[in-house]
Amino acid sequence: MPTPVPLFDLSRVLMPHRPALHAALERCLTHGIFVLGPEVAQFEKQLATYLGTPQAIGLSSGTDSLLATFLALISQGRLQPGDEILTTAFTFIASATSILRAGLRPVFVDIAPGHFHPQIADYEQAWGPKTRGVLIVHLFGEPQPLDEIAQLCADNNGVMIEDCAQAIGAVQPDGRAVGTRGLAGTLSFFPAKNLGTLGDGGAAYTADPELGQRIREIRQHGMAAKYQHQHLGGNFRLDALHAAFLAVLLPELGGWIAARRQHAARYTHEFKTLSDRGLLTLPGTIPGHAWNQYVIRTPHRDRVKAHLDSLSIGNAIYYPSALHVQGALRTANPPAALANTDRACQEVLALPIYPGLQEYEQALVIQAVTDALNAA
Ligand SMILES: Cc1ncc(COP(=O)(O)O)c(C=O)c1O
Repeated sequence: MPTPVPLFDLSRVLMPHRPALHAALERCLTHGIFVLGPEVAQFEKQLATYLGTPQAIGLSSGTDSLLATFLALISQGRLQPGDEILTTAFTFIASATSILRAGLRPVFVDIAPGHFHPQIADYEQAWGPKTRGVLIVHLFGEPQPLDEIAQLCADNNGVMIEDCAQAIGAVQPDGRAVGTRGLAGTLSFFPAKNLGTLGDGGAAYTADPELGQRIREIRQHGMAAKYQHQHLGGNFRLDALHAAFLAVLLPELGGWIAARRQHAARYTHEFKTLSDRGLLTLPGTIPGHAWNQYVIRTPHRDRVKAHLDSLSIGNAIYYPSALHVQGALRTANPPAALANTDRACQEVLALPIYPGLQEYEQALVIQAVTDALNAA
């Protein structure tokens, strides 16, 4: 019987923190405030300090954080319904559907060869007369270079928003957290993220006090004063329980990111020969990477996947089809030709990298990938 290796196992990671999580639950049961309230306010401060930003707003998910941010920008008049926002199609569906649900139009930009993201030249080329901004996605935890994109947005009076759902813990070369360069950053606390809660949760953060206040209102149905609903919003509130759990877990994030970086470095080292032989392409290893996923590319992807599956070694395809071919977005987007994105969908494979991964387990993953590619 092969030893199964999970792609991700949060219960393993949480094991040492169970007493503190139980205490957080007990505290909430005692004070009885379960939606927003002091737990959320305290976590928001803690998160803002961690990110080095003036304010963070606790929200119900990463999806709702994006939606609330775009709705806030529309309600402020900084964006108009129908405005076009450039973004990648090589991401999770929420990046683009949140733009669309807010009344804007996502316009897809192809990723660049050798990258999982579009580069500045791709955005420049795609910028059209109706473009009013860019949604950057720091996919897999890889911080994107932003200087030139920020300049492009500034020169054209557009907004730059950063979807950091997969990238908490990632830092830019100047040491700043991802999401703090754009007008706003958004996070997901879905369990599989670098900082996950025991359910769904999210946050937005911004150095712009008025935008932050507007997002706070939008998360409660656009309520500016009690039962005075000035703007279109929704129920996008973070539960107190999640804030209490996240307050316990945020101090662990630094250690978890360090473990992810160590696992990534080991894969990169061990796969060097396969990479030199042209059998796989390694992900770029920039220092501020937060490694929510370690994603290799290989034309032999299906063979490697089948071998890992046969050994019960966790793996996943992020993403098997990109957003420009999703039915959910067909009304917004005429068929686009995104050749590099399509090719990536055929070649990518994510390997286990979460902090609880044991050394011997990673050795099994490395051996299995090596065996499959040597047989290719
Ligand atoms: C890039 C990206 N954006 C947004 C989201 C949405 O976050 P949530 O699942 O918390 O709604 C995710 C979640 O996987 C994501 O990966």
